[in-house]
Amino acid sequence: MAALQEKKTCGQRMEEFQRYCWNPDTGQMLGRTLSRWVWISLYYVAFYVVMTGLFALCIFVLMSTIDPYTPDYQDQLKSPGVTLRPDVYGEKGLEISYNVSDNRTWADLTHTLHTFLAGYSPAAQEDSINCTFQHYFFQEGFAAPNHTKFSCKFTADMLQNCSGLVDPHFGFEEGKPCFIIKMNRIVKFLPSNGSAPRVDCAFLDTHLQDARPLQVEYFPHNGTFSLHYFPYYGRKAQPHYTNPLVAVKLLNIPRNKEVAIVCKIIAEHVTFDNPHDPYEGKVEFKLKIQK
Ligand SMILES: *[C@@H]1O[C@H](CO)[C@@H](O)[C@H](O)[C@H]1NC(C)=O
Ligand SMILES: *[C@@H]1O[C@H](CO)[C@@H](O)[C@H](O)[C@H]1NC(C)=O
Ligand SMILES: *[C@@H]1O[C@H](CO)[C@@H](O)[C@H](O)[C@H]1NC(C)=O
Ligand SMILES: *[C@@H]1O[C@H](CO)[C@@H](O)[C@H](O)[C@H]1NC(C)=O
Ligand SMILES: *[C@@H]1O[C@H](CO)[C@@H](O)[C@H](O)[C@H]1NC(C)=O
Ligand SMILES: *[C@@H]1O[C@H](CO)[C@@H](O)[C@H](O)[C@H]1NC(C)=O
Ligand SMILES: *[C@@H]1O[C@H](CO)[C@@H](O)[C@H](O)[C@H]1NC(C)=O
Repeated sequence: MAALQEKKTCGQRMEEFQRYCWNPDTGQMLGRTLSRWVWISLYYVAFYVVMTGLFALCIFVLMSTIDPYTPDYQDQLKSPGVTLRPDVYGEKGLEISYNVSDNRTWADLTHTLHTFLAGYSPAAQEDSINCTFQHYFFQEGFAAPNHTKFSCKFTADMLQNCSGLVDPHFGFEEGKPCFIIKMNRIVKFLPSNGSAPRVDCAFLDTHLQDARPLQVEYFPHNGTFSLHYFPYYGRKAQPHYTNPLVAVKLLNIPRNKEVAIVCKIIAEHVTFDNPHDPYEGKVEFKLKIQK
């Protein structure tokens, strides 16, 4: 068998490589002449400048169509979610239970309420304005400081007996606990055509409660979210906005028995029958008060 390839010595290889790097006969460097290298470099520089320019143009066009005061990709929420405080989740959603005779079992619950309402202290609401009108607060311009829109104050004292100010135990001690209902905000959402949205709580299984309806005290009066808290214009337009609240004080919860309660928001444009979202327009929870 004849050798198929002539073996090159190491010295020959080095010499070839050197000629490749710099060939004095043709004036080529790495296989190209200097002027060709300059042209190729210019070509690539021009190519990348054009690509960068196109990319920048795309970003610029995209950014200029985005209005910083309204979110573009608002999810498909048409009806607001509703949350409850204190919020203790069990295996099947909100489950609150405590023993009236043992204050250690409800200390965490009232603590949650105090912490939550700290955001509604007069100091926390300092940058919002007093509103007394009971209709929508439409704001065309940005008349508030720092190019923003005004927000209406909601202070804890508006929850009266459930404010934690009159009764620091929120009624848990006497077995008539207060719960706070919050409707989540949706940008530019108008809940109704005229009348303020109202909270309505009831036993979920009415037939099980000996047809005895749930007795509730609502704060503020009638359990309404005043219309002057709507519409909400977004975080950037209304940096000081806080959600209005409704507190419900449940007066006739039976002892040593778990009951299910539902609190719905009654308003023309709020729905609470979405099977895919149990917290849309309403909040359901289980409550067990022992003694
Ligand atoms: C509630 O607490 C009291 C006092 O600690 C205790 O005697 C009672 O058994 C408790 N009730 C239940 C149902 O655990
Ligand atoms: C519970 O009640 C006892 C007696 O009334 C009191 O000494 C204790 O500080 C209370 N604990 C809490 C967490 O409120
Ligand atoms: C808003 O109302 C509170 C309490 O009613 C009052 O102390 C405060 O001075 C009012 N602020 C303005 C700006 O009117
Ligand atoms: C306006 O902006 C300045 C600086 O960011 C801030 O110190 C001030 O508190 C803002 N004023 C209001 C009313 O938000
Ligand atoms: C608030 O509580 C006080 C004392 O417990 C009671 O007299 C009053 O009727 C309550 N207010 C409302 C609006 O229920
Ligand atoms: C809103 O209410 C006004 C009068 O109260 C009525 O004329 C109008 O048709 C209502 N609009 C809707 C969408 O229900
Ligand atoms: C509560 O509702 C009644 C009847 O709907 C109404 O007459 C009353 O003005 C309302 N109270 C408040 C404070 O909105």
